[in-house]
Amino acid sequence: MSLTMRPATEADLDRLVDVYFSAFGGNPINDRVFPASSTQSRPFWRKNLADNLKEDHVRFQVMETIPTSDSEEKQIAAFAVWNAPLKATDAIPAMPPLSAWPSDGDLEAASEFFYDLERQHKKFMGPTSDSEDQKQRPHWYLELIATHRDFQGRGAAGALLRYGEQQADAEGVPCYLDATPDGRPVYTSAGHGFREVETKQYLGGAYEHVFMIRDPRTSS
Ligand SMILES: CC(C)(COP(=O)(O)OP(=O)(O)OC[C@H]1O[C@@H](n2cnc3c(N)ncnc32)[C@H](O)[C@@H]1OP(=O)(O)O)[C@@H](O)C(=O)NCCC(=O)NCCS
Repeated sequence: MSLTMRPATEADLDRLVDVYFSAFGGNPINDRVFPASSTQSRPFWRKNLADNLKEDHVRFQVMETIPTSDSEEKQIAAFAVWNAPLKATDAIPAMPPLSAWPSDGDLEAASEFFYDLERQHKKFMGPTSDSEDQKQRPHWYLELIATHRDFQGRGAAGALLRYGEQQADAEGVPCYLDATPDGRPVYTSAGHGFREVETKQYLGGAYEHVFMIRDPRTSS
């Protein structure tokens, strides 16, 4: 099975939501904030991904199968939402307001976790001083990456990671992300080379999340 990369489109949104839930099902934060019983979770993610498609600085890519016969259909296996560097005077992207999150999920967990991701992003990629200024260092930010369970372990995420890493290297800027336990070994693997800058516990210690930076590599 071969995969090819292309930009995501509006027509992909339903499948992208399927890929998201296939990938993140079983993640303790996901299962609290977007429980299977929730009717608001799929619309939440559809809107979030649709909003990303409209942002100029967002590079939203999918990995899609290449059919080997006429009877086979293309299928999106994975996607990534990269944010290209913003101007230093732009604010770090904000999470949606709490009122937008599924009220039939755990809003307290959403608030504890997702708003902390925003704070951490500001802490590591904002100015080097500890001021409350929201100006950022130029960097490529991996907002989200997911591979459908049926397609994991086949190089889809690796290719999507390289898409952003190579542009960051060419521009001489770092990449930043926050990692689930699934993502952690992928990012720190030799081919990708992210380093852990902080590990934090959430949900009273039931869940651990890692914050990572990848310094730009030079080709020589
Ligand atoms: C994390 C995730 C995106 C990885 O997707 P994938 O398509 O299965 O990953 P790949 O097969 O492309 O592997 C990516 C790279 O990590 C390496 N890798 C994978 N697992 C590894 C492990 N346990 N130890 C070391 N390296 C590992 C692979 O060798 C590959 O390296 P390469 O790109 O240099 O060839 C996928 O497991 C997923 O969607 N998980 C659930 C959602 C999630 O947690 N997303 C991450 C949010 S931070």
